[in-house]
Amino acid sequence: MNDVTEKVLKILESAEDPVTVEEISAKLDIPGSSVARHIKSLREAGHDIEFSRGSGYLLVSGGGAITPEEIEKTLKTAVMGREIRYYESVGSTNWTARKICTDEDPAALHGTLVVAEEQTGGFGRMGRAWVSPKGGIWASLILKPTIPVDSLFLITMAAALAIARAIRRKYDLGALIKWPNDVFIGDRKVAGLLVELSTEGENVNYCLLGIGIDANVDLSDLPPDLQKTVTSVMAELGHEVNRASLLTTVLKEFESRYQILESGEYDPIVREWKSLSRTLDSRVSIRTMRKTFEGVAIDIDQHGALIIRRDNGRIEKVVAGDCMHL
Ligand code: BTN
Repeated sequence: MNDVTEKVLKILESAEDPVTVEEISAKLDIPGSSVARHIKSLREAGHDIEFSRGSGYLLVSGGGAITPEEIEKTLKTAVMGREIRYYESVGSTNWTARKICTDEDPAALHGTLVVAEEQTGGFGRMGRAWVSPKGGIWASLILKPTIPVDSLFLITMAAALAIARAIRRKYDLGALIKWPNDVFIGDRKVAGLLVELSTEGENVNYCLLGIGIDANVDLSDLPPDLQKTVTSVMAELGHEVNRASLLTTVLKEFESRYQILESGEYDPIVREWKSLSRTLDSRVSIRTMRKTFEGVAIDIDQHGALIIRRDNGRIEKVVAGDCMHL
């Protein structure tokens, strides 16, 4: 690292608040145009540096807690995560969120984030256990959606996109989405989503969006079978990341897509999902409640169902099931 880059790092390390380009360039007597180059070198060296237009650069240290204070430092949303319920340990953030929704008015809870350092009874799709040791991001977002019930699957698609985009933008890792909504880096899963709904007819009381990201999970804390199929951002990068800042980036990316859905525009989300899909055009094995078959994933439809062309030419639509890439 050259001398000037090191000095930029020192400035960022000693600042509590974001530092503007002008401040850095004045302090070091360098042109503003070269500041971005030094920041780029620092990011390449593994430093997590946030940028926000108007306020400037903020160095976020690795590791750390995921407390409301830490989250609020980099939170740039209007609604998502503006109210936070933080716990050291819970059974499942989805259970805690459900209890909160029964005790309080769900309409007033829209955007509330329930987050925990660890879960002792975390669960995933198909009722499977979701191992949630310290180091991960285990959270549930309480939503009171205004979009029609039969389009609510788009919320999970928007959330998968938000996680994949956040991981790509912040760490330059090639995160992709495996149908239905798992986030992968290479051929290993790094994040999963679980939506729970409380409805009365067409009326949605609330929607819980469970978000699980193996951010700083130490793979040796996972059972041996999972160690072969799962990764964490930390394992990919070789160093810890600031979980609060990853979470706030995910919330920001999610909020912008959620607003698109609320405006009644669904196509941009489906199109973007297709562009970040690792399942489309792949040969897959599908297991549903009724059968197992192989074929090529050729599309997803307006309802998030996967369309498969079987070897005999037959087209199958899969609404729910397990998808294994071959
Ligand atoms: C899956 O891929 O099967 C979905 C995993 C979802 C895990 C998250 S972690 C936070 C929330 N609480 C849970 O118990 N599950 C979800």
